[in-house]
Amino acid sequence: MALLFISKNDSPSDWQEALASLEPELEFKIWPDLGKPSEIEVALVWNHPAGALGLLPNLKLIQSLGAGIDHVLTDPRLPKNVPIARLVDTELTRQMVEYVVLAVLNRHRRIDELRRAQLSGDWQVIQPVPIGRSRVGLLGFGHMGQAASNALVNLGFNVTVWTRTPRSAGSLTSYHGSEGFPEVLQTSDILICLLPLTPKTHGLLNAKAFAALPAEAYVINVARGAHLVDEDLLAAIDNGHLSGAWLDVFDEEPLPPDHSFWAHPQIVMTPHLAALTVASSAATQVINNLRLVRTGKPPQNLVNPEIGY
Ligand code: GLV
Repeated sequence: MALLFISKNDSPSDWQEALASLEPELEFKIWPDLGKPSEIEVALVWNHPAGALGLLPNLKLIQSLGAGIDHVLTDPRLPKNVPIARLVDTELTRQMVEYVVLAVLNRHRRIDELRRAQLSGDWQVIQPVPIGRSRVGLLGFGHMGQAASNALVNLGFNVTVWTRTPRSAGSLTSYHGSEGFPEVLQTSDILICLLPLTPKTHGLLNAKAFAALPAEAYVINVARGAHLVDEDLLAAIDNGHLSGAWLDVFDEEPLPPDHSFWAHPQIVMTPHLAALTVASSAATQVINNLRLVRTGKPPQNLVNPEIGY
């Protein structure tokens, strides 16, 4: 039996090694070398070419190589009735927490302004606002959102959560749905997007949302580029309403060389690396899922394609 690996982002040799240590008899195929397509039970995918998975008649599992599965669902020829699983992995979550804390603290301690002052030889002391008065709005409260909120609360930030559907956020103030969206925006000095990308969350960070944020708010997007309307963000920063943004994800990746984000002094950008999958950590979940689907059970972290996560 075989696994098909399709990804330009992840290392096939790391995955081959990690999977072989758990299930040595599983053959490892790298797209486009299918061998005998009928032997492929599981496809391990990140941005697969449309139609590729339809070539596998005995496919039992589509396993995303990341936390998101929007890249799977965009395939118009995706085989029906094959379960799709996303990764929920401690290493992935830990990296996301690190990254979110970095971006939030960068804004909280005004590092970008201090750096600009440094470059102009200016000894400029900026007093930070007391941490409990720094209000963080977190959009999305899945595994990564919960872990990020715990870390921020432990540091002393005042965290409010928004989810698309009602969801308990423990002792934190939380809002949900379109009625609750303006509420979370109103109290977010720092807004973090950690939502799954679905038709309902596409373009959510737009001119109207930015206008509802407090003056000098800061936007951090670590979810997907399509959550955010680029021109609306640029306009809201350039007209002085927002103080800046930190972006890890973009509608088009790599970001085109002539895009205004690259050189914008109030935008920090990184090339979609907030949380990168580590094969040695995530391989156990893939093999466990394969064992579950072989016995007719649903995989862990099964996705509902109807709702998109
Ligand atoms: C990364 O963007 C992921 O979905 O894991």
